[in-house]
Amino acid sequence: MDRFAGRVALITGASRGIGLAVARRLVSEGASVVVTGRDEDALKEAVAGLGEARASGVAGRADDAAHRAAAIAHAVERFGGLDHLVNNAGVNPAWGPLAELDANVARKIFEVNVLAALEWTREALAAGNLRSVLNTASIAGTAASDNIGFYGVSKAGLINLTAQLAEELAPAVRVNALAPAVVKTKLSRALYEGREERVARAYPLGRLGVPEDVAGPAAFLLSDDAAWVTGQTLKVDGGASIRPVG
Ligand SMILES: NC(=O)c1ccc[n+]([C@@H]2O[C@H](COP(=O)([O-])OP(=O)(O)OC[C@H]3O[C@@H](n4cnc5c(N)ncnc54)[C@H](OP(=O)(O)O)[C@@H]3O)[C@@H](O)[C@H]2O)c1
Repeated sequence: MDRFAGRVALITGASRGIGLAVARRLVSEGASVVVTGRDEDALKEAVAGLGEARASGVAGRADDAAHRAAAIAHAVERFGGLDHLVNNAGVNPAWGPLAELDANVARKIFEVNVLAALEWTREALAAGNLRSVLNTASIAGTAASDNIGFYGVSKAGLINLTAQLAEELAPAVRVNALAPAVVKTKLSRALYEGREERVARAYPLGRLGVPEDVAGPAAFLLSDDAAWVTGQTLKVDGGASIRPVG
């Protein structure tokens, strides 16, 4: 498939994990990509793996305005525009009940996971030829969870931001989200390490996700195959959300 031939995508938080798998998939379908992440060396390694002809990295924090401006300008200068944005960078520095949550930590989670997604979208729009946006939310944004409560609150915010932006930016730009369950990455390690088999029993499809499981749905929602789909959040969860309780 060549759904992204001639297209340019910017994927935040793509030096590893889900973001890197999405970048790999888009490049394999013809896109040129700009990837971001905080660690410059990790980003260089990711770009080398993607192939320097159609991939480039800009290191920085997703919630830093100067970094956003530099990354978007780089996409335009290096590849000629910006057609697709993937707001994938997300953090969860908190573990435990909300009653024990430090308000400054909560603020940081909100700034990276929600506010930065809005800012990236506004700034990408200003670049002129944006067609679609994809936000990496989480099933944690659709129900309560143990220990990662404010992360879930932020992802619920991102899901609503998706619907709101979809309404406001239609018909020119489509905005959708993915809500993955546990995908085996550095971020989610604490949720399954040492008990993967037990955790996987909650999934009708019998296993936890891997980043490549998210890349196909991401490419679909970004592509013209989803031309009449906007404002949606697609659960990518091995069926976990349809398992009956009890
Ligand atoms: N894994 C799961 O089970 C799961 C489930 C649902 C949703 N998600 C969401 O999926 C997205 C990707 O997570 P992942 O599981 O793929 O995690 P990951 O493997 O830890 O990768 C996170 C990526 O984002 C970068 N990053 C982290 N904080 C950043 C920041 N403040 N600014 C810019 N880049 C940043 C990381 O590089 P640096 O550390 O070098 O910055 C890395 O490239 C997140 O939004 C997460 O909430 C994950």
